[in-house]
Amino acid sequence: MLFTDRFEKRTAMQVKIEALLNEIEQLKATTAEDVEAIRIKYLSKKGIISSLMDEFRSVPAEQKREVGMKMNALKQAASERLQVLREQFAQNGAAEGMTDLSRTAYPVALGSRHPLSIVREEICDIFKRLGFTIAEGPEVEDDWHVFSSLNFAEDHPARDMQDTFFIQHDPQVVLRTHTSSVQTRVMENSEPPIRIICPGRVYRNEAISYRAHCFFHQVEALYIDREVSFADLKQALLFFAREMFGTETKIRLRPSYFPFTEPSAEMDISCNICGGEGCPFCKQTGWVEILGCGMVDPNVLENCGIDSKEYSGYALGMGIERITNLKYQVKDLRMFSENDLRFLEQFRPAH
Ligand code: DAH
Repeated sequence: MLFTDRFEKRTAMQVKIEALLNEIEQLKATTAEDVEAIRIKYLSKKGIISSLMDEFRSVPAEQKREVGMKMNALKQAASERLQVLREQFAQNGAAEGMTDLSRTAYPVALGSRHPLSIVREEICDIFKRLGFTIAEGPEVEDDWHVFSSLNFAEDHPARDMQDTFFIQHDPQVVLRTHTSSVQTRVMENSEPPIRIICPGRVYRNEAISYRAHCFFHQVEALYIDREVSFADLKQALLFFAREMFGTETKIRLRPSYFPFTEPSAEMDISCNICGGEGCPFCKQTGWVEILGCGMVDPNVLENCGIDSKEYSGYALGMGIERITNLKYQVKDLRMFSENDLRFLEQFRPAH
């Protein structure tokens, strides 16, 4: 008799709430609109639960506590059920059973390669064909690898804070200003023959403008073996220039100075924008400078534990941005690091 007892005690309001609880547990939605309709029906200001609140006012005082708890449970159950239905959409893109298998998979929005990556890979590929392998080193470097081992004098201007970002002063830790630091790391740790190409990011304390940035990218090449000569360097340079810019490309070497090479040179190529006729890019000279190079200074070899009487070698270094500008005529260096899709999408490969 206990059972009927309890039953009789339930008010009309409680019966209503229990029926609603049941109803809510069974709710299903097949579209996002269904979910919204359910929210409006049960949980909006004019929804069922709100209208129950009005009825609640007339519940006798002694029953208020129990009915009130039930009301809260109902409200909670409705919110939870709605959340479950919403999550189904988030997971499946549609509610259970609504995955549209006939939807086409195309067009898929494909990204594009960054122009600097395209050119970096092209440069590395060319040197790989000459037997070079990739080597990498840290961007946060010590003074030894960036400057001292490479024969920079104590008072060399490149060591100045105006050019170099310092992380720590004593002992000196800097952001590498060139990828030549990787040369020393590799020479210290391996025996000749060494034939490496080192792509990477470098940092200099420059004001950012359309033609300078505080970080940019370089590729360094190093070849150390017995009897490596300047003729070998010249041959490698010519091969690189023709592979990169076309078989008609001419090169010229101008004497220059770098602390880590002796003799040193800078290489120009015939301007590939005007074909050597003269244009604003080559300042009407028909030539554009693209890299620095030279025979590795014997001091550098000795600093890295390589016998300079037995071995010799050449090194060269170039800026990837510069090569990219020559290929694609990007007028503002800042474009490379702004992630503007209108710029990046132009490098999408043709299908
Ligand atoms: N490290 C030089 C720079 O950042 C570039 C360079 C010049 C690298 C001559 C070399 C080289 O290996 O031989 O300007």
